[in-house]
Amino acid sequence: MRVTRRSVLGGLGALPFAHAPAWASVPVLAAQEAYAQIAPEGYDTTPVWAYDGLVPGPEIRVRQGGRVSRLLRNTLPDDTAVHWHGIRVENAMDGVPGLTQNAIAPGEEFLYDFAVPDAGTYWYHSHNRSMEQVARGLAGPLIIEEASDAPDVEHDVVLMIDDWRLDPETVEIAPFGNFHDLSHAGRIGNIVTTNGQYDWSMKVRRHDRLRLRVVNAANARVFRLRLKGLEGVIVALDGMPVANPVPASVDMDLAPAQRIDLIVDVVAEAGEVADLVSLERDGGFSIAGFEVTAGGRRARREAARPLPPNPVPDAGDPAQAPLMTLRMEGGAMRGLGPTRHKGEVKDGRAVMQEGQFWSFNGQAGLDEMPFFELSRGEVRRISMINDTAFPHGIHLHGHHFHVMNGDGSLGVLRDTVLVAPGETRQILMVADNPGDWLLHCHMLGHAMSGMNTWFRVL
Ligand code: C2O
Ligand code: CU
Ligand code: CU
Repeated sequence: MRVTRRSVLGGLGALPFAHAPAWASVPVLAAQEAYAQIAPEGYDTTPVWAYDGLVPGPEIRVRQGGRVSRLLRNTLPDDTAVHWHGIRVENAMDGVPGLTQNAIAPGEEFLYDFAVPDAGTYWYHSHNRSMEQVARGLAGPLIIEEASDAPDVEHDVVLMIDDWRLDPETVEIAPFGNFHDLSHAGRIGNIVTTNGQYDWSMKVRRHDRLRLRVVNAANARVFRLRLKGLEGVIVALDGMPVANPVPASVDMDLAPAQRIDLIVDVVAEAGEVADLVSLERDGGFSIAGFEVTAGGRRARREAARPLPPNPVPDAGDPAQAPLMTLRMEGGAMRGLGPTRHKGEVKDGRAVMQEGQFWSFNGQAGLDEMPFFELSRGEVRRISMINDTAFPHGIHLHGHHFHVMNGDGSLGVLRDTVLVAPGETRQILMVADNPGDWLLHCHMLGHAMSGMNTWFRVL
């Protein structure tokens, strides 16, 4: 019998519908149009696209080993999908239209439901036309609390920093698709916010201990962070605990999508303001202020201990792992040679006319075939060579990886690595999560203009 739509619907309708479907009780996460006060007080609000109408989106916080369940309801005038950045989910929940799911059309819903194996600071953001949708506000924090041995702090503070390009007259979000941005450093904004505010601050007391969870949700801006009136250690990078916490006294670079968790004590005096400072332009400006009020402990506490490790796969002996190369080419000042795009090798100039300015190993954008294919459990090193005049923050979906140290030993775990112009960084990954996964630059304009590929784990 041919199954027609009518017979299917009729069949369903005939079922005794004793219970509401299991997902009826799942909280909704609505992708919607809204207004937010992005520009300083006194300016108009800005029309944004936002989860539950909030910028950033609502904080989703669960215990390690628990589940995240959200029914995404799309009321935007555009297709969308949600990616859960950095958390090791099953492939079907990764939120990449065309690769792991169909885009969620306006008026449609999609159930995201997955277990969270790792504690730490993660985030979620749109992965459909992300260059534009993330810049319009579709991003929020995802915090996974340690199952045990969480650090004892007075304040657990999420600091989601973002970079907006607003029209200075109307404070509306400036138009997209400018080839100059795509072929240079990406879409750099003209206003930086923390937790959606131009002037974010909170009150603390001297010697309070804070856990700062800093998330870079910007389209392209690399922040260089420094502490003032705060002292402590770096305890996690991209969600993953650092085995031996390092003093947070150095300047800390944070590429788009990267996170850094700090445990710091307030050492400024009552009446002063401690700051998280960004140094990357204008001689430095505060991105988070901590007003020190009277009271507080007499002395600082003992040094913070490392966070409990996450259950990541064992990397084995790095020297045994086969080495591959990922060469980044293109962009302003360098350009492209013959490049493969949409299944055809073309002259670099022709590819650039199609809005593709970057390549990985001579290939711009997604190809039919995966960039590489690994069997489950295989270990690989990838040498990432930046042959361009701009920095790139390269992100792998579904896996964290070790950034190798100069002496060939295993370095920190990350999900996004910043590779400076002319620099080579080697990473090592254990392919333990089956499925089709993206590998792309998280300067979102670069991803849409060539720096985007995928790999398969069987
Ligand atoms: Cu933050 Cu492809 O993702
Ligand atoms: Cu991701
Ligand atoms: Cu890039």
